[in-house]
Amino acid sequence: MFPSSLLLWLGLGALVKCAAGSDWCYTGCAHSPSHWGDVSSLCGGQRQSPIDIDTSKVHADPKLLNFTFKNFSSQKVIKSITNNGHTVKCSLEDNEVEVSGGGLDATYSTLQFHFHWGETDHHPGSEHTIDQHRYPMEMHIVSLKKGLTVEQAVADPTGIAALGFFLNATEDGDVSGPWGELTSYLTSKTNIETAINHNISIDDLIGNVSRTKYFRYNGSLTTPDCNEAVVWTVFQEPININKNLIARFSAITGLTNLYRPAQTLNGSQVFASPGVSPPSEAWCYDDHCKYNQANWQLLSLSNCGGERQSPINIETKNAVVNKALDAFTFTKFDDKHTINYITNTGHAVKCVLIENKVEVSGGGLGHVYSILQFHFHWGSNDSMGSEHAVDSKRYPMEMHIVTKRKDLTLDEAVKTPNGLAVLGFFIEPTLTKSSSSSSSSTGHETNPTQSPTANMESWKKLSNYLSAIKDIDNAVPDSDEIQQRVSGSADSSQQDSLQIPSQHLCTRHAVSAAGMSFHHCI
Ligand SMILES: *[C@@H]1O[C@H](CO)[C@@H](O)[C@H](O)[C@H]1NC(C)=O
Ligand SMILES: *[C@@H]1O[C@H](CO)[C@@H](O)[C@H](O)[C@H]1NC(C)=O
Ligand SMILES: *[C@@H]1O[C@H](CO)[C@@H](O)[C@H](O)[C@H]1NC(C)=O
Ligand SMILES: *[C@@H]1O[C@H](CO)[C@@H](O)[C@H](O)[C@H]1NC(C)=O
Ligand SMILES: [Zn+2]
Repeated sequence: MFPSSLLLWLGLGALVKCAAGSDWCYTGCAHSPSHWGDVSSLCGGQRQSPIDIDTSKVHADPKLLNFTFKNFSSQKVIKSITNNGHTVKCSLEDNEVEVSGGGLDATYSTLQFHFHWGETDHHPGSEHTIDQHRYPMEMHIVSLKKGLTVEQAVADPTGIAALGFFLNATEDGDVSGPWGELTSYLTSKTNIETAINHNISIDDLIGNVSRTKYFRYNGSLTTPDCNEAVVWTVFQEPININKNLIARFSAITGLTNLYRPAQTLNGSQVFASPGVSPPSEAWCYDDHCKYNQANWQLLSLSNCGGERQSPINIETKNAVVNKALDAFTFTKFDDKHTINYITNTGHAVKCVLIENKVEVSGGGLGHVYSILQFHFHWGSNDSMGSEHAVDSKRYPMEMHIVTKRKDLTLDEAVKTPNGLAVLGFFIEPTLTKSSSSSSSSTGHETNPTQSPTANMESWKKLSNYLSAIKDIDNAVPDSDEIQQRVSGSADSSQQDSLQIPSQHLCTRHAVSAAGMSFHHCI
């Protein structure tokens, strides 16, 4: 009697636990992150993780000193690896690995580490973000306060210590080595525990990342049940690994976008160790940050106080005709397969092109330039948002096509007086008649009432992507073949503006959630 009822009880317990545990997801099920509160009410709590770490608001804490890591250098402690359907987890040998110091009040016994990632090269998937920057991946090393069971630890406000390391994708770098070996174990088969036979230590994976530069806050588990039991340590420097190794995580496991969106801090404080580099110098256009436009020249390495700054007001009466400014040659501007992805950088909406495909020359440039990206500037509350003005007239928007001299690297180009060439196009909605009434024709041959109209279908496709990039650094690969030539039939005359239907300008509302300026429908 007793053994069988015990079996029954255990079986039911396991079943109930399993059902609850698998009842959530990141995308594509009823219990995606915004509904995790239905899976566990703790997920709706006040100290939830992950968060965005705003480095301009962190407080330095002199008590956040060196960690002591026990057996992080041992090549025998990483026992096994499992794809559990939510992540890939590496289990450690019991009671061998420990973390203490680093401002922690206790010694913590390390159980496992696991990973969070995005989708492709262009869709990063770290959980924490630094000044809204999302890294491609994040590794979490999870430890329990020594002597506590899991049940006790999740009930203790400091029962769990989690170490977060960002993973950054580099173009080159070792594809063998510890990360090559670890990723060779990745599999799409779930819940199969595979022994790690290679000699890999945790130190081998972390590499030379500084362990004295880190952020600290009290938060939660980032998956249900979201227990508010975690002392978080997020290291400032990322682990740089080859982008092909990062791509393996989503490609081989078939799991994508395994990260919970940033949670609100609800007034609590993030601390920084004394080793953390000074706050990153976030700049902005308006007054919501220290480095607003009036202070850009204070940014270190800044050229913003220089003598040939842009934009300017173009006074047509002072412009001199220059015969050297001959016709442009645009190469592949009509190619529908040149836009790589579109992204919200927090400063602009930017379309990044496949490298070395689209080119411009002529126009008095003297070199062949290849197009890197184009992006947009706009206003707010019905103000005009073009950067340049012509005879003090500004337009609702301005598109910048940014190109680099083909014979230079980007680093060389930014240090060369003609290293970059930017093509600016003004944009205005077709429903306003302003161009016919207020644009002052000043002796040049252009007729402002005959502004060219753009390819509407291309603008519509492009603006349809805006809602997908509400979050800064989200990027959507451009599969829909947006025509690079959104500039339609515009010729290269400076005074022409592009006319696009005003309902497409309205879709810029989508971007306001990212804290950017935008303006209402005209
Ligand atoms: C802390 O670690 C750094 C880097 O590993 C080292 O240079 C420094 O001496 C250590 N400080 C103490 C107090 O141990
Ligand atoms: C862990 O470290 C201790 C010494 O601190 C050592 O005796 C032990 O062998 C190490 N364990 C492993 C698996 O490397
Ligand atoms: C991340 O990697 C890119 C190259 O892929 C590099 O330019 C950048 O500096 C790296 N970031 C950090 C913080 O190391
Ligand atoms: C791991 O190291 C041991 C010695 O500590 C060695 O015998 C073994 O061959 C190594 N395994 C691999 C896969 O390199
Ligand atoms: Zn995690």
